[in-house]
Amino acid sequence: MKIFTIANQKGGVGKTSFATHFAFYLIEKGMKGVFIDLDTQVNASYTLEKSFPSSKYAHSLFQDNFSIDNSDEKLTLFLGSNELAEIYSNSSVNEVTKVFYNSIQILKQKGFDFCIIDTAPSLNSSLVAALFSSDYVLSPIEPEKYALQGIEKMINLISNIRKQNNKLIFLGMLISKINRRDPRHIKHYNQLMEKYPGFVLPQAIGLRSSIAEAVDIGIPVWNIKKSAARVASKEIKTVIECILEKTK
Ligand SMILES: Nc1ncnc2c1ncn2[C@@H]1O[C@H](COP(=O)(O)OP(=O)(O)OP(=O)(O)O)[C@@H](O)[C@H]1O
Ligand SMILES: [Mg+2]
Repeated sequence: MKIFTIANQKGGVGKTSFATHFAFYLIEKGMKGVFIDLDTQVNASYTLEKSFPSSKYAHSLFQDNFSIDNSDEKLTLFLGSNELAEIYSNSSVNEVTKVFYNSIQILKQKGFDFCIIDTAPSLNSSLVAALFSSDYVLSPIEPEKYALQGIEKMINLISNIRKQNNKLIFLGMLISKINRRDPRHIKHYNQLMEKYPGFVLPQAIGLRSSIAEAVDIGIPVWNIKKSAARVASKEIKTVIECILEKTK
């Protein structure tokens, strides 16, 4: 089971839109997986629940006695909920991390091909737990100044976690919601490429309302039959194929 965390403490940069599409894609390729929504906003749960109804909750992965039966479902969805907020406030980072890591080891024994973890826009202990338990981390980023300012913190966190989890691979930054006709976006894109050569995925995802529409109705953008959705689909699929190539 390959474990991917999608993380950036900056909000609204496209984490959930990418994470949900990644899951749809892998399932369509015949894989079986787990999706963990670690965000009290429950956006990913909303999008995926329509195709993959669930009564499992992500907060159960932070409890000592976690167990799970074998499942034939294509996607086992661990829903986000408000209970996640209590976990962060009631226990130390080390405790939270240890318990979550143990739950992931249990999931690993159940024959899943992948696990995608969508995280909240904050530096909380569940993010540390997710990174500590993952093989790969991807950071979507918007080409806006505030987002650029935040990425440094994210990179520092990843390199600190790597001191304890040396198998964690940073797949890089995924530029999302870029308007290639906007000189400000192009300027910020170029700044990122200059400052972090090798850490920015060569493929980017444009500012495309069909992506927002798809996650709203709970389907992948490639199932929207509009010509505008075709470009968005191609962009997302190219990014996913690039990631799969890197993680073979
Ligand atoms: N490529 C895109 N083009 C246009 N809109 C997008 C794109 N990607 C995401 N959106 C929209 O932007 C908003 C934020 O996206 P999303 O929820 O994926 O970001 P996020 O990083 O998960 O946010 P949060 O940090 O709040 O969890 C959503 O309304 C979504 O529909
Ligand atoms: Mg989100």
